[in-house]
Amino acid sequence: MKGTVLILSVLLSIVTDSAFALIVGTLLTGRWLEATESAAELSAGSAIPIQSAFTLRARRSLLLGCALVLAFAQAVRPWFLAASMSGSSSLHGNLALIPTILSSTHQGTLWYLNAAAIAAFLMATVFVRIGSTPAVWISLTCIVVLAFGKAATGHAADQGDFTLVEILQTIHILATAIWSGTILVSGLLIVPRFAQQRGPAAVWNYTRRLSKSATYALIAVLVSGIYTSDRELNNTLNGLWSSTWGKILIAKVAFVLLALCLGAISRFRYLGAEATPGRSAQLVRLLASEAVVMIVILSLSGLLGSNAPPMSEM
Ligand code: HEM
Repeated sequence: MKGTVLILSVLLSIVTDSAFALIVGTLLTGRWLEATESAAELSAGSAIPIQSAFTLRARRSLLLGCALVLAFAQAVRPWFLAASMSGSSSLHGNLALIPTILSSTHQGTLWYLNAAAIAAFLMATVFVRIGSTPAVWISLTCIVVLAFGKAATGHAADQGDFTLVEILQTIHILATAIWSGTILVSGLLIVPRFAQQRGPAAVWNYTRRLSKSATYALIAVLVSGIYTSDRELNNTLNGLWSSTWGKILIAKVAFVLLALCLGAISRFRYLGAEATPGRSAQLVRLLASEAVVMIVILSLSGLLGSNAPPMSEM
């Protein structure tokens, strides 16, 4: 693929990686929010409940919007598959290839799997109460299937399915969605409103849950990321600076380190100290900055997945 088709294909990866992370982030933060808000109301002892910082209605709209983005991307993906297989950007030429690709290739089988997971998630978001047990199990299944589908359509599937590298890449997609998704939703939507509505104590209570989950996700992100990088670099660092893929990975890891620093400052400098309005304002700014860095990391990840790693040149 080259030119406009390649740019559109990279944009498609970035948009779907981000929509997936936002879905995971919205589902997880919703649970923390409910727990934190009910605790805040109990301690405030106020008879008049304060409106949630991220209402059920707003959460459903964001989930629906992201699921529709995934559905649109899924609908156009076969054309881009055809373009990458044919090397041509002919609209009609690639359209003619789609039936064969969907009926007789590995990518075609995965397309149906992903399409089924997106359809099930969409139905659950529309018809099942968010946070109910059925909704949790349906969402969880769809999210794991989509993460596997993503790993199995990428470079991690070069040696077949259900290999260690494919399982680790599935874990990478899940853990990175937890970390980046919860930071995006918390830093851009929840915490700024929370700080206004509920005061520093509630912000501290919520952000501690966020920081704990980010720490666990980080361990899985690093283990899976380093393993996959080592493999796709052919177990030598040379490919880091001698290939486009390697240079993108360097840029990505640099931004991951920046996100790590911002997270560490939030955790050790602010959450480790007393919750005050001044510190709360700083924490809101730190989380918003970390969210912006996550957008850059997700963009570089989509670019990375769309470039050939040194391993594929062997
Ligand atoms: C917040 C941190 C991170 C996020 C959000 C993130 C996100 C992602 C995503 C979404 C993909 C799939 C890209 C695609 O195929 O479209 C990916 C792939 C990958 N990531 Fe990460 N990642 C993170 C950290 C890391 C780290 C720290 C490393 C290395 C130490 C790493 C190495 C890789 C590699 C090697 C791939 C596979 C690229 C390929 O298929 O060629 N990631 N990452």
